[in-house]
Amino acid sequence: MKSLLFAANWKMHLGPADARAYCTTFLAHSAPMPGREVWFFPPAASLEAVSGALKGRADLRVGAQDIHWEAKGAYTGAVSAGIVSQAGARATLVGHSERRKIFGETDADTARKVRAALAGGLTPMLCVGEELKEREAGNTLAVVTRQLAGALDGLSAGDIERVVLAYEPVWAIGTGRNATPQDAGAVHRQIRTWLAGHGAPHPRVLYGGSVNLGNIAALLAEAEIDGVLVGGASLEPDGWAQLVRTGAP
Ligand code: 13P
Repeated sequence: MKSLLFAANWKMHLGPADARAYCTTFLAHSAPMPGREVWFFPPAASLEAVSGALKGRADLRVGAQDIHWEAKGAYTGAVSAGIVSQAGARATLVGHSERRKIFGETDADTARKVRAALAGGLTPMLCVGEELKEREAGNTLAVVTRQLAGALDGLSAGDIERVVLAYEPVWAIGTGRNATPQDAGAVHRQIRTWLAGHGAPHPRVLYGGSVNLGNIAALLAEAEIDGVLVGGASLEPDGWAQLVRTGAP
């Protein structure tokens, strides 16, 4: 049985009070399951509420949606690895497509953020994925490889082994249109090949983009997929708990 990671990216939803209520309902609907971990990426302002509410469950982990690469300083609006760690984070997303597209984050920025996360003791979850026009032009693998190299080139094999990967095709995010398990599997294979070539032969590679109760079983059945990174379908605690249970014996 492969071990699975279910990651909830709440994006800009659920402030501290709503997040506490969410966790109460989630815990009532969820028991630890062998080989399954659940990670929550709330907004920065809700990190402490969520880490407090989920304390005591070793299968649950809290992470930030983004960090700045500097440890501290005059960066209005930003949070560092140290700050989110104090609030209970043990991981951080890096390079989510919304950060790249809306906030202009570059591959060079993702490289600095991965390093800052590792230096701060956080597990980076690096997000990669192509836009629709790039897929249609046959450039998916070139784009994903460029994003991997941009973020990870120059790191030691040991550091690369600490990074979790999330393949999120941009055209599948929030659109209701998910990649087929086979399509995702093909990209995941390419990601694994690249990582193995850089000394990390056993990476965790998640799929994200319109994952829901209707498609989760088929996605998890694909050998290449080690878990999922979920936006919309993670926002209702009972539905999310049900999704996490899917396919469990
Ligand atoms: P959706 O699940 O809403 O498509 O969002 C995916 C995502 O961006 C997770 O990071």
